[in-house]
Amino acid sequence: MNANPFTPTFGKVPPHLAGREEIIDEMGQAFANGPGDPNLSSIIVGARGTGKTALLTCIAEEAASRGWITASVSAMPGMLDDILQRAQEAAEEYLSDSNGVSIREIGIPQILSLQFERKTEESSNWRTKMNRLFKELEALDIGLLITVDEVTVKLDEMVQLASVYQHFVRENKQVALVMAGLPFQVSELVDDSRVSFLRRARRRTLGRLPDSEIENAFLATVEDAGKRIGDDALLRAANAIDGFPYMMQLVGYRSWASSRSDEITANDVERGVHQAVDEFRLGVIETTFGELSPMDVRFCEAMAEDGGASRLSDVATRMGVKSNYASQYKRRLLTAGVIEVSNGFLRFAIPGFGEYVRQR
Ligand SMILES: Nc1ncnc2c1ncn2[C@@H]1O[C@H](COP(=O)(O)OP(=O)(O)OP(=O)(O)O)[C@@H](O)[C@H]1O
Ligand SMILES: [Mg+2]
Repeated sequence: MNANPFTPTFGKVPPHLAGREEIIDEMGQAFANGPGDPNLSSIIVGARGTGKTALLTCIAEEAASRGWITASVSAMPGMLDDILQRAQEAAEEYLSDSNGVSIREIGIPQILSLQFERKTEESSNWRTKMNRLFKELEALDIGLLITVDEVTVKLDEMVQLASVYQHFVRENKQVALVMAGLPFQVSELVDDSRVSFLRRARRRTLGRLPDSEIENAFLATVEDAGKRIGDDALLRAANAIDGFPYMMQLVGYRSWASSRSDEITANDVERGVHQAVDEFRLGVIETTFGELSPMDVRFCEAMAEDGGASRLSDVATRMGVKSNYASQYKRRLLTAGVIEVSNGFLRFAIPGFGEYVRQR
């Protein structure tokens, strides 16, 4: 029996990433170009389960293939020290693989000092310690990518990082900062005047993926792992997935598990979708819903009455408020990644969210 190739686990990189080729290529180009490339400061924005963490990992892999090392952290207390330690660890790892061994054999003194300084510079501040590390890395022409997941402006160290990073950039260091966060966290962060520098970072929004991208990645995942899937079954899967990366993994995982032969049939997908919908509700919808304010919820309830596309004016009427008051909540929900606007109509951005609100 072949192992199930789908990865319905948060943070896990799937065997085939749907629809991210362009971003990864552009980032690769940026690492090749080095200082000055605007993509080196990027922020990835997306609702829960859109694949931010997985993308950060892939960007770090891309960086590694261009001779950069990565310090990957989450925005939590202790983050700055973590960045330093992860960077030192990555540098040591880099130096101890084949490349590094030869460098060590020739005995370039910088590398020794890299290890030496770790023990002696307890009293210098973060920027000083980072500057020393950059000096060592520069001598070997290694760039440093810092990735920060789950950004939040509530963390002082986030603000410190942003302002010190600005100096690194100004000093032409071979450095990159790629951050990721939920829409409202990112808006709060870039709206903060203390980190106005981040407003110029390249923002990448992970929205719904086109069905064609989902189908390609789904098919490749199934076939690489040794099963087949027919067009009907694939179409049914793509329909239920509705462009949502986490849903692709859930539907894929459950459909694969239902299949009793080397083909995933339309029936297998049907059963898989059923289970996936329940799991998606627990993993994404309920968590997102729990973060809404009572007025946000009223807005969503008014929207859900339409069962698809809504007009702001209708939503306002149902809420019993003026349109410009309702539009405040429209903005909040847009920012939270709960709704989206297409052709002037409002829609829920998370599959199944409308049904969930209706059934509550
Ligand atoms: N491009 C993609 N194509 C297919 N599946 C993906 C893609 N990106 C991520 N996934 C899958 O989607 C799920 C969610 O991914 P990930 O944890 O990266 O999301 P996230 O945006 O970081 O979520 P959260 O906001 O909760 O941290 C995982 O199961 C992962 O394997
Ligand atoms: Mg994540």
